[in-house]
Amino acid sequence: MKIKNICCIGAGYVGGPTMAVLALKNPDINITIVDINEARIAAWNDNDLNNLPIYEPGLKEVVQEARGRNLFFSTEVEKAIDEAEMIFISVNTPTKTYGKGKGMAADLKYIELSARQIAKVATTDKIVVEKSTLPVRTAQAIKNILDHTGNGVKFQILSNPEFLAEGTAVQDLLNPDRVLIGGENSKEGNETINALVDIYATWIPKEQILTTNLWSSELSKLVANAFLAQRVSSINAISELCEVTGADVSEVSKAIGMDSRIGPKFLKASVGFGGSCFQKDILNLVYIAKSYGLNEVADYWEQVIIMNDHQKNRFAENIVSKLYNTVSGKKITFLGWAFKKDTNDTRESAAIYVADALLNEEAEITVYDPKVSEERIYEDLDYLNTRSPEENRRLLKVVMEPYHACEKAHAVAILTEWDEFVEYDWENIYTSVIKPAFVFDGRRILDGQFMKDIGFQYDAIGVSILNNI
Ligand code: UDX
Ligand code: UDX
Ligand code: ADP
Repeated sequence: MKIKNICCIGAGYVGGPTMAVLALKNPDINITIVDINEARIAAWNDNDLNNLPIYEPGLKEVVQEARGRNLFFSTEVEKAIDEAEMIFISVNTPTKTYGKGKGMAADLKYIELSARQIAKVATTDKIVVEKSTLPVRTAQAIKNILDHTGNGVKFQILSNPEFLAEGTAVQDLLNPDRVLIGGENSKEGNETINALVDIYATWIPKEQILTTNLWSSELSKLVANAFLAQRVSSINAISELCEVTGADVSEVSKAIGMDSRIGPKFLKASVGFGGSCFQKDILNLVYIAKSYGLNEVADYWEQVIIMNDHQKNRFAENIVSKLYNTVSGKKITFLGWAFKKDTNDTRESAAIYVADALLNEEAEITVYDPKVSEERIYEDLDYLNTRSPEENRRLLKVVMEPYHACEKAHAVAILTEWDEFVEYDWENIYTSVIKPAFVFDGRRILDGQFMKDIGFQYDAIGVSILNNI
């Protein structure tokens, strides 16, 4: 089975970069990415590649090469579905904000809508590929909808979860640790799996393309994210212990990471993990475990989220406590708003929650982030519904220049590990802030001794106050 036309529903952080790389590596396959969001599609089609809706290192170059050749962005969803033999579903699956499973379960309404639309339009057999992260057994629901509302054509379902991380999406897609493809255990199922294997095999060694049954594939994606998030919560838990015992979390990370059974990656203590996946996927795992009555399993994983919330809270509380127990009317500068460096994505970013906690204490916050727009920052805060949009705009300002952002600040807090923050002229910043000059490093990116030598009261996650005086 040779695929000639692919459609991808959803031109977001997953669909956009994934299909761009697929198109780059398969010039003989036509790939159309569709989205109902007209502004987003217009941005993907913008002649000026700096206006792409997503910032990812290396993405501009990939889009430039493939777009118009065999990669197309369109709002004509039905046309693209009709023409494709293979359809990727890459729509968003946020945590439910209403009804049963509110705050925990995945909201599958966009997935269901996509499945219904495919069923309505399809007049030829289709392979439907789940790309979005989904609860285990979603393929069953998709299959039911397709088989019972379709026009009698045959559908095969594959699960092909995406493991790319934002900020390194293009590199991750070009050199993935593995590609995972789950499918039905039947002759047709195997043929379908192979059709997708062939597409990836144009640039990925076959040994790294793993095929499993549908349920293992769906579950593995949730488990991979849960394990990664657990590592961050584990080291963050230790960071708090380091602060009271005189240990240094970076030294502990290094010492344990050299054990090959533990490994060195994903052991960086931080102000808390963010991003669209970790929290959502763990909540999802917890919800699934509970729904099968596996309460101990659910409680075990829920603790990862509890620890992460605690980490964000205690970062904010520490700022208040060090600033003599009041931040009311004090200017606090945030360097960084994105959930990690090299992305303009802010979903679930720790900065949002730290800001909210400090605004509750009547702080006045100024934010600088190299890639996040002012509009996005206000939307993030307004979404919490803690105070009115007017209040948010009165108390929090966004400044596009870092030195200006730091002027007359009572404290500078580092929320994202952008490389440029390390390169700043901190001596210059020291002269412009209010003394005592506090820096709260939520990412441990600055050299503590250097900062203290300048005169800063430097406070970093996971470093003991015992060594800090
Ligand atoms: C452990 C540490 O590995 C070692 O570094 C430390 O110095 C002492 O404690 P030990 O208890 O001797 O060593 O054995 P280990 O191989 O770590 O196994 C501990 C337990 O975990 C065993 O019961 C083992 O069966 C179990 N285990 C280990 C699993 O159930 N699954 C695994 O994947 C690994
Ligand atoms: C994650 C998974 O890594 C990826 O495989 C999956 O496809 C989607 O979810 P992403 O959320 O884009 O990717 O970024 P990731 O690099 O995993 O970082 C997530 C959060 O954890 C960030 O807020 C990051 O700052 C934080 N983090 C990560 C730490 O605090 N410490 C670490 O050591 C690593
Ligand atoms: P992710 O990080 O999973 O890629 P995003 O929110 O960035 O999530 O992207 C998902 C995209 O899917 C959004 O641009 C949204 O407009 C699009 N989308 C959601 N439902 C549909 C649908 N039924 N048809 C087409 N596009 C859709």
